[in-house]
Amino acid sequence: MNKAKRKTVIAGNWKMNMTPGEGVSFVNKLKEIVKNQNNCGIVVCVPDIDMQSVSEALKDSNIKLGAQNAHWELSGAFTGETSVNMLKAFNTEYVIIGHSERRQFFGEINLSVNKRLKTIIGSGLKAIVCVGELLDERELGITTEIVSLQTKIALKDVAPEQMKNVIIAYEPVWAIGTGKTATAEEANRVNGIIRGVIEDLYNKDIAEATTIQYGGSMNAANAKELLSKENVDGGLIGGASLKHEDFAAIIAAAQ
Ligand code: PGA
Repeated sequence: MNKAKRKTVIAGNWKMNMTPGEGVSFVNKLKEIVKNQNNCGIVVCVPDIDMQSVSEALKDSNIKLGAQNAHWELSGAFTGETSVNMLKAFNTEYVIIGHSERRQFFGEINLSVNKRLKTIIGSGLKAIVCVGELLDERELGITTEIVSLQTKIALKDVAPEQMKNVIIAYEPVWAIGTGKTATAEEANRVNGIIRGVIEDLYNKDIAEATTIQYGGSMNAANAKELLSKENVDGGLIGGASLKHEDFAAIIAAAQ
C-alpha cells in the first residue's frame, strides 16, 4: 500500500465550542501560521452558527471549511437539522458524519450514517465518516468486527467513483477526549483493517487512494509518530484543534 497515493488531511472538530466571534479570531491567527503549509489538507469543522463568519475569514486561505453533521433530506420538516444546500451556501467542503458523540447522545446508527453519506457526496461535498469501537468492544476483542461493520454499512450503495469524496476517520471511542491515544502501531493496524474492507468492497486502487485518518487525543506531542505510519493519512482532532499553536503543530507534523 502506497501512502503517496493519497492525501493527508488534518481536520479540526470544534464540537460545541467557539462563538462566531471566537471562531473568527481563532482562524485569523491560524491562517497566518499555516499559510505556507501546502502538503496536507487543512480543515476546520465548525458549529453551523459559526459558518458564515468563519467562511468569510477563511477566504483566500489554505484552510477549508467543514461542518459536523448534515441531514439526508434536502429540505423539509426536520426541526433542528441542517441540509447540505444550507452548508454549501457558505462554501463548506467537508462534513463529519457518524461521530461517536452523535452515536452516543443523538441516536445515530450505521444506517443513518449511510443515508447522510449518500446525500453529502451526492451533493458534491466530501464526507469524513467516523468509525471506532467502544472500550467494552475492544476488551471483548471485537474491534475488527465493529470497525468493519461500521465501514461496510456506511459505504452501502456508494459508487466507486464517489469514493474520492470519502474520508474515513478511525476514532476509538475510549480515546476521544480522554487523553488516552491508541499507540501508533495500533492506529496503523486498525486503519489497515479499514483499508482492507475498502479493498474488498471496491478494489486495490480505491483502497490505496482513500484517506484514512486517526482521531482520539491526537496532539502536538504524539502527532508525528501517528502520522508517520503507513496507514494513517491524517487526523481528526478535537481538543487540540481549539488551540491554534497545538493545531498548527499537528499540521506541521503532517508535512
Ligand atoms: P479529541 O477528539 O481529539 O478531543 O480526542 C477527537 C474527536 O472527537 O474527533
